[in-house]
Amino acid sequence: MLLEKILQSQGFGSRKYCQQLIKNGAICIENQVCDNPKQNFNLGQLHFQVFGEDYLYREHVYIALNKPSGYECSHQATHHKSVFSLLPEILIHRGIQCVGRLDQDTTGLLLLTDDGQYLQSLTHPRKHVPKVYHVTTADPVTTEQKQQLELGVELRNEKGVYAATGVELISENHLSMTIHQGVYHQVKRMLAAVGNKVESLHRHQIGLLELPRLDEGEYLYLTPSQKQLSQNIQLDV
Ligand code: URA
Repeated sequence: MLLEKILQSQGFGSRKYCQQLIKNGAICIENQVCDNPKQNFNLGQLHFQVFGEDYLYREHVYIALNKPSGYECSHQATHHKSVFSLLPEILIHRGIQCVGRLDQDTTGLLLLTDDGQYLQSLTHPRKHVPKVYHVTTADPVTTEQKQQLELGVELRNEKGVYAATGVELISENHLSMTIHQGVYHQVKRMLAAVGNKVESLHRHQIGLLELPRLDEGEYLYLTPSQKQLSQNIQLDV
């Protein structure tokens, strides 16, 4: 692929801007300045430097963010900051999207990608990828409430019943539960349906992928294995 196209595909800006970067000597490949925008490179394991910073060519990106409270999952956030403000511009230029949404006050594992197929594989209603939440409740969770969550509850304006699996009481006001759909405010509405109220909500796991060790607001690129785990695919051992 032409160097100017490579840079553009990786989110460094328009074709024109990338040509300029290259002509200005900002790009190094294998420790050599490459100032010809039309030079061709093989993409497999291509490392390059832009203003001395290392990059690896990626056809698509798969990002895990430890979402803090107070951030909205939209580009045009209205009442809070946008999760996209936590990410560098090269990722935004690639057109990454959130893989499902978390409420502004929900924390924890948020995936983002520019790969439409991957996004579909996690969010399509027929896929039922499990998502594990840690929930703090306003009132102590009763045995009856736990059973109701497991049996399933109806939600206003939604078809069918919504049941949780792996409901575990961690303490009186704290439980862990897994949901298999992703309708609007699902966990909060399920807890309300059994007569309780969510005080705080944290997503701990998507598929088989647990939230990696990240401080709040930090992100990382998923490895191919982590990507598979997020799709609920067991790794070959
Ligand atoms: N369920 C909710 O109610 N809110 C979220 O952010 C995620 C799941």
